[in-house]
Amino acid sequence: MNDTVKYLLPEDRIPRAWYNIMADLPEPPPPVLHPGTGKPVGPDDLAPLFPMQLIMQEVSAEPEIEIPGPVREVLKLWRPSPLIRARRLEKALDTPAKIYFKYEGVSPTGSHKPNTAVAQAYYNKEAGVAKLSTETGAGQWGSSLAFAGHLFGLEVKVYMVRVSYEQKPYRRALMEAYGATCIPSPSEETASGRAILAEHPDSPGSLGIAISEAVEVAAQNDDTKYSLGSVLNHVLLHQTVIGIEALEQMEMAGDWPDIVIGCAGGGSNFSGLSLPFVGKKIREKLDTRIIAAEPAACPTLTRGTYAYDFGDTAHLTPLVKMHTLGSTFIPPGFHAGGLRYHGMSPIVSHLLQLGLIEAKAVRQIPCFEAGVTFARTEGIIPAPESTHAVRVAMDEALACKKMGKSRTILFNLSGHGHFDMQAYADYFAGVLEDRDYDEASLAAALAALPKVAAAE
Ligand SMILES: Cc1ncc(COP(=O)(O)O)c(C=O)c1O
Repeated sequence: MNDTVKYLLPEDRIPRAWYNIMADLPEPPPPVLHPGTGKPVGPDDLAPLFPMQLIMQEVSAEPEIEIPGPVREVLKLWRPSPLIRARRLEKALDTPAKIYFKYEGVSPTGSHKPNTAVAQAYYNKEAGVAKLSTETGAGQWGSSLAFAGHLFGLEVKVYMVRVSYEQKPYRRALMEAYGATCIPSPSEETASGRAILAEHPDSPGSLGIAISEAVEVAAQNDDTKYSLGSVLNHVLLHQTVIGIEALEQMEMAGDWPDIVIGCAGGGSNFSGLSLPFVGKKIREKLDTRIIAAEPAACPTLTRGTYAYDFGDTAHLTPLVKMHTLGSTFIPPGFHAGGLRYHGMSPIVSHLLQLGLIEAKAVRQIPCFEAGVTFARTEGIIPAPESTHAVRVAMDEALACKKMGKSRTILFNLSGHGHFDMQAYADYFAGVLEDRDYDEASLAAALAALPKVAAAE
């Protein structure tokens, strides 16, 4: 009888190339537009913010892009990450389903985020950049860029969403341990931050606001570029190492997933695992279900409008066509800080429009419940963001039990929750709330979508 739990690959199986879904899409996503002209942006428009190699990846239609040697060398610190069969969870749920998870919490900072942080730091260094500015929600991305920046000799400044900055002081300390500076956002340091504070002195902040601050700093300083931890095509591209490894590991297990699940904030860990499976689904006409799990308090894919919108609150970014709750929408301060983003990656949004993926919104308390069950069976305490994927995977496994049918479920455990224990403490103390977003402010944010969207 096969009782294998871990499917491990040797270091030489770290992927040599990233997978680019663009090559397999039946039609490309709509272009990114310049907010001033309404015309598609060109590489030069993006040059103040990103090094040219990343801009070229952003628009590439090549099926594969080679991973530079120095990037693979750093990835060796934790990759390939394990694929684990969650046999104890299966038993606890008494389900006929087989549950596998890819565990990205083995990275130095505890999530999938360094997969792209290392690549972005490398290309910036190659382009002669001295400093990077960025935003962070939960702090996973900020600490990952702090780590990667230090490895490549770059100074890193992180604008951290204020509510998370207050909830997670140790994430800030971790960023500082890697040599980065971490500032609560909105801050007095930037015009965008000052404008928000003038109107809302107690603003909890949001990823949209923190992005505005970081973009502003990069746009105004020649030695600084901006780095984004999710959403953009090149970020999703770098994350595909997860799914490329998982394809090989599922083959080792002699299995194929009927259902692939990832939690989605801006869409990068969901895409990292799922895009190589979506590619196979398209090429081989498979009926694999691919599910993005999002928070009910910030339901971008399930409640948002598919429209052109800004990526940030102060409207400094280009316009991207995506599922959005409106760039001025501020979600309630729930614990999965990395999922509090008003928009969604254009690629993920496009896949939903094409019917190649589906989306489910889940509430915070049932997610923590799932996280605790997972910890008590598999031993790993999931990051609050990752509990959304655990919840949906458990729901699918329980549905199998109800139907008396076995299905193979694969999900991405995007990170551990070692820095998020206050959230679990709140859950155990019964003080965690399932706060709903405000319908009126969602309606107002959607009504304020830029004109290009209204004209469609
Ligand atoms: C552990 C973890 N999972 C998921 C996310 C969501 O981001 P993305 O949708 O880009 O994967 C974050 C973001 O901070 C995170 O820290």
